Amino acid sequence: MSPSDVKKYDKEFVVHSWSVQSALDPLVITKTQGVHMWDENGKRYIDMTSQLLNQNIGHQHPKVVQAIKDQAEKLCFIAPGVAYESRSFLGKALAEVTPGDLKRFFFTLGGADANENAVKIARMYTKKWKIITRYRSYHGATYGAIALTGDPRRPPVEPVMPGVVRVFDPYCYRCSFGLTYPSCKLRCADSVEEVIMYETPETVAAVLVESVVGSNGLIVPPDGYMQRLREICTRNKVLLIADEVMAGFGRCGKWFAIDNWNVVPDMITMAKGLTSGYVPLGAVAISRKIMEVLDKQMLWAGLTYNAHPLACGAAIATLKVYRDDKLMENAVAMGEVIRKETESMKARHKCLGDARGIGLFWALELVKDKKTREPLVKWNAMGADAAIAKEINKRLLEGGVYTTVRWNFLFVAPPLCIKENELREGLAVIDKVLDYADTMAA
Ligand SMILES: Cc1ncc(COP(=O)(O)O)c(C=O)c1O
Repeated sequence: MSPSDVKKYDKEFVVHSWSVQSALDPLVITKTQGVHMWDENGKRYIDMTSQLLNQNIGHQHPKVVQAIKDQAEKLCFIAPGVAYESRSFLGKALAEVTPGDLKRFFFTLGGADANENAVKIARMYTKKWKIITRYRSYHGATYGAIALTGDPRRPPVEPVMPGVVRVFDPYCYRCSFGLTYPSCKLRCADSVEEVIMYETPETVAAVLVESVVGSNGLIVPPDGYMQRLREICTRNKVLLIADEVMAGFGRCGKWFAIDNWNVVPDMITMAKGLTSGYVPLGAVAISRKIMEVLDKQMLWAGLTYNAHPLACGAAIATLKVYRDDKLMENAVAMGEVIRKETESMKARHKCLGDARGIGLFWALELVKDKKTREPLVKWNAMGADAAIAKEINKRLLEGGVYTTVRWNFLFVAPPLCIKENELREGLAVIDKVLDYADTMAA
């Protein structure tokens, strides 16, 4: 099919997610490899956002491609109720990297249904129903997961699943309590306990948080926050669920982001990096105490394609690549390059209010004025209000950088296999585009 036919049939027959269809003019991509992608004209882009922050090992890793082929030849599908080699082996391989006693796994299709199943399990285990989540959160787009989500993707599809109570985030750059870390003494964490008290602990089943907030502005919790949440949940007999769909699998320099604070939640939800997006797969990692109860009762959950053998085969190979290619180590080392580079960019650019991240999970927060911190593009801006973000994105693409620009956040989250020269090349393009953004800042 010629690239012009690809575009024509796409326009005619394909409905894209999260888009106003008539406003779309998607790139036609013909090839990807490592940290690069090529369009129909042979133009090369550095993927500085790992697609949907899922291609952690990079594009078209030969070992994972081979593992998928091998698994397809052996067995493509067998019902979820059957014990099968790639399923069992993946459980064992995952148990080697999950923290604490989170050693049993319910395999899902992706992140949204991992979160929905974690909620079901929390409700079955605690016999309570309320779930506390945060405003700057995204937990998936299915109807249950969007109910858990705090961000602007939820209100347009309300009413949604009831029983979700929301709290404020540990967003130090714009503290909801007007305080500064560490003199704040983690007021944001303590406010979660206050909310549990008002809602009454007897009704609250779980607190569900992204260990590091991704799409809503890359919020790395200050040290002590996750530890405090753990204490609060334990004290109130509320489960702690860590959503590691985006932050997990080396993105934050460790197998799971929460490992950076040595906290063991009661469940971890995961997806994206589990197979690096090569085949859809998610999972809920479940603690021993929950499994002791679940082992004796019906699990009211399951989809036809759960624990798909092909996806399990891809995941086994992906886990091995993280180790063999030393991707966690590289994420930490390259994260330091970003830290240093963005520090000097901050000094040069009027529009760069904050640059924050951990491992290879970073965002630049763009502002109109560093003193007032007024965002360059408003939270939830759409259409004409988001024109600046669109223009920034256009200029990045012209410079050969593919990334996500969401409102006033510009994401820097390349595949974990990125080399220093590739990273510097991408950052140089971003640096140049910030000159344009500077013209709109005071
Ligand atoms: C933190 C988080 N949780 C859940 C999801 C939903 O995952 P999926 O799109 O695989 O359903 C996402 C997707 O971006 C995410 O970032």
